[in-house]
Amino acid sequence: MTGPTAAPEPAPGDRRSPWSSTVRRTADGSLEVGGRDVRDLAAEYGTPVYVLDEADLRARARAFVTAFTEAFADLAGADVYYASKAFASVAVDRWVHEEGMHVDVSTGGELAVALRAGVPGDALALHGNNKSDAELERALRAGVGRVVVDSLAEIDRLADLAGRLDLPAPVMVRVTTGVHAGGHAFIATAHEDQKFGLSLASGAARAAVDAVLARPELTLLGLHSHIGSQILDLSAFEVAAGALLRLRAEVAEETGTLMPELDLGGGYGISYTGADAPPAPEEIAPALAGVVRRASADLGTPPPRVSVEPGRAVAGPAGLTLYTVGTVKPVVLDDGGERRYVSVDGGMSDNIRTALYEAEYTAAVAGRRSEAPTVVSRVVGKHCESGDIVVRDVLLPDDVARGDLLAVPATGAYGRSMASNYNLVPRPGVLAVRDGEARFVVRPETEDDLLALDLG
Ligand code: LLP
Repeated sequence: MTGPTAAPEPAPGDRRSPWSSTVRRTADGSLEVGGRDVRDLAAEYGTPVYVLDEADLRARARAFVTAFTEAFADLAGADVYYASKAFASVAVDRWVHEEGMHVDVSTGGELAVALRAGVPGDALALHGNNKSDAELERALRAGVGRVVVDSLAEIDRLADLAGRLDLPAPVMVRVTTGVHAGGHAFIATAHEDQKFGLSLASGAARAAVDAVLARPELTLLGLHSHIGSQILDLSAFEVAAGALLRLRAEVAEETGTLMPELDLGGGYGISYTGADAPPAPEEIAPALAGVVRRASADLGTPPPRVSVEPGRAVAGPAGLTLYTVGTVKPVVLDDGGERRYVSVDGGMSDNIRTALYEAEYTAAVAGRRSEAPTVVSRVVGKHCESGDIVVRDVLLPDDVARGDLLAVPATGAYGRSMASNYNLVPRPGVLAVRDGEARFVVRPETEDDLLALDLG
């Protein structure tokens, strides 16, 4: 383990950089994003605020679409779905769709937002291990492109519903391949002990395929697997893809049905602190195409059309959170050292990931340049809980003081989407910036919003 580090300076084009591509320092040392100085954003829109770099997000969406389209051109083609759980809003779903992505939704709420954004039903995938009848019905009525079924019971419920509504129901079967990945390593186990999917090893996945084939109301599109999140090592995807392609070939041989599609899920990692160099779409797509090409040839089956579902890798690096520093408190540690506790005006209600997953972030003083020596610091929030940590360990300049702006990069995914109202703190708005223009795409909550829910 290395000790705490300071946030790297913005470095557009460097894949290790946790900052979005339009972040830079102004001549007098402030940070600028989307052509806007963070000092002006804070003064006009307040803090805490999520700032979303529209050009960066669009470019990441486009890069996935281009890379997969090119890599799979000589196979059966590819589609890229935005996993909107990472951050769903009408503007963002519209942007990614304009850049050529389809959209994956996992609840009625995400479905409603995608439809409001104008994403056509046939460009939507519906996920979930416990979809309600109402969610399934809304999806079918919207003409959903695929429902990813997650249990044997759901297959019958969906078939009954599709029959009753007399609507088409294209289906993928979510398979747990035993491959799990995330962070730096992956493991492959035979059996599964988790709520998602149908196990390959136990035969449940094959039983689900047969159950779908037995119901004429359903159209079997293919197999789906999602192996984890924040994955930096592509070999785990290759193992999972191979396993799915073998099941596909087995089904073709035994039933005569060759499933036309294969979905390899999301999970591509991003840089949170500057320590990691995540794979780019230009590497991911050819690697996956290579496995599909080789495995299909070995198995003697024509290749499927492939889809993937990146969420974090599209929205994550495009967002940063801007806070204002409040209380700064030195704490003497048992070993005699010091840790500086730097409190900000948000915390675990706008970013639960540090507390929930021990996720690593970095932070930088954003409104000025400091030449002061750095001290080991911990960025904490304003909540009544000692686990309310935003950045566990980071070097900040010794002169960080009340009123300073602090930016935490790479918060675009699973930040606002997992935000809460703990301690009745209103959730920050999402401010989109592009070419010098700023506008809220999700407005900040107010105490009046919170009081409006309280019926007294
Ligand atoms: N597809 C499926 C079926 C998924 O379950 C997920 C994420 C994705 C795609 C997108 O994965 P991504 O590319 O964003 O890694 N709250 C956690 C992440 C949970 C992800 C759940 N499923 C976090 O903050 O790290």
